[in-house]
Amino acid sequence: MKILGTGSALPKHTVTNDMLSEIVDTNDEWITTRTGIKSRQIITTERFEELAALAAQRAIDAAGLVPEDIDFIICHNVCNAYVTPSLAALIQHILGIKGPNCPTMDLNSACAGFIYGLEICEAFLQTGRAKKILFVCAEEVTRMVDWTQRETCVLFGDGAAAMVLGKGDNYLASKLTSTPMPEVIYYRLPCEPTPFETGEGIDTHIAMQLKGREVFRMAVTSAQKDIKDVVAKAGLQLEDIDHYLLHQANMRIVDAIKQNFDLPQERFHHNIEYRGNTSSASIPMLLDEKIREGVVKRGDLMVFNGFGAGFVTGAAVMRY
Ligand code: ACO
Repeated sequence: MKILGTGSALPKHTVTNDMLSEIVDTNDEWITTRTGIKSRQIITTERFEELAALAAQRAIDAAGLVPEDIDFIICHNVCNAYVTPSLAALIQHILGIKGPNCPTMDLNSACAGFIYGLEICEAFLQTGRAKKILFVCAEEVTRMVDWTQRETCVLFGDGAAAMVLGKGDNYLASKLTSTPMPEVIYYRLPCEPTPFETGEGIDTHIAMQLKGREVFRMAVTSAQKDIKDVVAKAGLQLEDIDHYLLHQANMRIVDAIKQNFDLPQERFHHNIEYRGNTSSASIPMLLDEKIREGVVKRGDLMVFNGFGAGFVTGAAVMRY
């Protein structure tokens, strides 16, 4: 598998910490010292699926292709207003990609979704079932939180990132794990009531719940192990890797992970300061930004590492 092109798209509305302090009892100092976040982009008037399709079109342009060249669309998305059809099917429609030879499907592996999605793309490309996959990670996490809960609402931002993947030898190693701990991060929506359901509380709506300290501990511990394991699996040394792109959950998490590696610290990229936590979109948005800045160049070695609700984790080594 190799990356043929990347793209991303952001909502236009910037929300600073000071703006949040007018909504909940918080302040810039608390948010900055606990999370590193200064501002984030939040969906207002945009339609989510159009934002995701814009990121997709930019990735197709960057690959020098046209939408009709795509023969599989895979999206990662935790939650959006459409439960069905899939976000992938909506993007196909917006981009005007005619069927029936471009299957579409969505995945959900929470904030580790980018890593899980790469693995699925690799499998389809390896078997020859697809030749040009459009892989999109798009999230509107700010619509999953309770905006009266200061512990969670300050952490997140919205955004979309995409890439076109084709056959190649650049996907060098991967590792996926899952530890059953649903209580650490979860979000429940009610389903439609039926005349037959009897269980108490089955249809309870619970906005995103987060056991912050447990998430912090799990994230730092798993990331250190996953990164070491995946680099060894690729037959490489940690110092061979040019770029470490970690899920942008919290600047303190990224700092705690990188301090455990005796490596030039600038190899650990971050943009959480002005993006917030965008769940599965965070790594590919960061990658697109660094490619467009010329920081990540063709031939460079990258490690991706993600972790999130489940508790799922994953890492991959890839050459750009
Ligand atoms: N503004 C001001 N005060 C706040 C806020 C806020 N936004 N939120 C909580 N507080 C208060 C609490 O009420 C509590 O007050 P108390 O001590 O009087 O009870 C206090 O701040 C808690 O402070 P700390 O214990 O210092 O908070 P902590 O250092 O644990 O930081 C945080 C909280 C940022 C959530 C941290 O636990 C964390 O980073 N966890 C990781 C979770 C995370 O990043 N999740 C991202 C999503 S999950 C994912 O992507 C995988």
